[in-house]
Amino acid sequence: MKWSTNSWQEFPIKQFPEYSDKAKLSETEKELAKRPPLVFAEEVRRLRRRLASVAEGKSFLLQGGDCAESFLEHNANNIRDSFKVFLQMAVVLTFGSSLPVVKIGRFAGQYSKPRSSPVEVIDGIELPSYKGDMINDMAFDKLSREPDPIRLLKAYDKSASTLNLLRAFASGGMADLTKIQEWNLEFVNGTKEAERYEKIAEKISESLSFMNACGITPSNTLQLRETEFYTSHEALLLNYEESLTRKDTITEEKGWFATSAHMLWIGDRTRDLDGAHVEYMKGISNPIGVKCGPTLDPDELIKIIEKLNPLNQPGRLTLIARMGAKNVFKNLKPLVQAVKKNGLVVGWCCDPMHGNTIKASNGFKTRKVDDIMDEVKGFFDVHSELESIPGGVHFEMTGQNVTECVGGIYTVKESNLADRYHTHCDPRLNAKQSLELAFLLAELLVERRKKLNKDLSKVS
Ligand code: PEP
Ligand code: CO
Repeated sequence: MKWSTNSWQEFPIKQFPEYSDKAKLSETEKELAKRPPLVFAEEVRRLRRRLASVAEGKSFLLQGGDCAESFLEHNANNIRDSFKVFLQMAVVLTFGSSLPVVKIGRFAGQYSKPRSSPVEVIDGIELPSYKGDMINDMAFDKLSREPDPIRLLKAYDKSASTLNLLRAFASGGMADLTKIQEWNLEFVNGTKEAERYEKIAEKISESLSFMNACGITPSNTLQLRETEFYTSHEALLLNYEESLTRKDTITEEKGWFATSAHMLWIGDRTRDLDGAHVEYMKGISNPIGVKCGPTLDPDELIKIIEKLNPLNQPGRLTLIARMGAKNVFKNLKPLVQAVKKNGLVVGWCCDPMHGNTIKASNGFKTRKVDDIMDEVKGFFDVHSELESIPGGVHFEMTGQNVTECVGGIYTVKESNLADRYHTHCDPRLNAKQSLELAFLLAELLVERRKKLNKDLSKVS
């Protein structure tokens, strides 16, 4: 295979910013290339094994986080709260499904955004769209919207410090299962979700006391004391990715690794078969994702898969379907059928966010919790009908008490959207809405498990 870390430059590229100062850009890329990798090849290989298990239906994938991380809101409390909701959701899912949950955050690198329009017009003034803090600034003035190469280094630094804290949380005691009650966020307390969560937490604590009596404790059992947590983002800025693409110098195993995150994905707008993004991704050894939107043709998908995973290796490729609640059955089914027919091994993941974005009557971009739930249900239905595996979910969510998505048991109404609308891009689920969805998912997973057991007992 002819590939190098910069071969993508010979292919057409979409969504790449227009930098006016090319010398500064090149200097910044050189500087980035000197920086240490953010992740280590062995972790990346381990995630591939975990995702192979997802593709087989032996684990469930939970991927989520901000639509766009922001420099301004980059602080320990925000990272901690998002991590806590993640842990809570994972516990609910593990409890419901009896499957290990693979946790991948849209954290520590999700700083660049593809946009449907390159320009934004407000009151007759046209400026370049905001494309994420790694590229330009959200403020609506000419200077802020100018792509600035220095932001690449800033994004690297922020990602490094986020990852450092996440590693500390994951292995330094916060993820210890005996602390399960402490993961509750204050503003969720007293709600129905918190009550349901408490019940699960009590059952887990009981089981832990029993195991403790048998000699299995957090101090002698790593799995009770720590968790594995991985990072991911959309690989939009290929110059950033190229600068951080490295060989594994420890095992000296052949191959190149993107070291900006454990997993990278290609967005729905940049997944062209002959485009730069597919070219770059085909050469790295990381597990990769491909967003699959309603315009993706099944034959095209098969060609993309064959290019990205020519050896059909399990764990290499996760397909993240984002069809919209109304079209999930119609659009997803032919893709799943084509993948099955061609004997291709992929993990199927449902992103019920990006096909369900609407404009509220007061102008806010929002999503209805009901639509999100419906798409998840539709995703499970398609896989059930085709006897395929619904491997996981991909959410935009936060640990903060935001009002960005409407609906849920503790209804956020359209009129509440202005209260705490903080997202830098798409509307996210708040912690209550995230937990509510985790319970729905757990129910779907229990149903699926029961159906599989029934089918198995019929066979035997
Ligand atoms: C995203 O995940 O934030 C995104 C832009 O998704 P998509 O490429 O599926 O539109
Ligand atoms: Co988004």
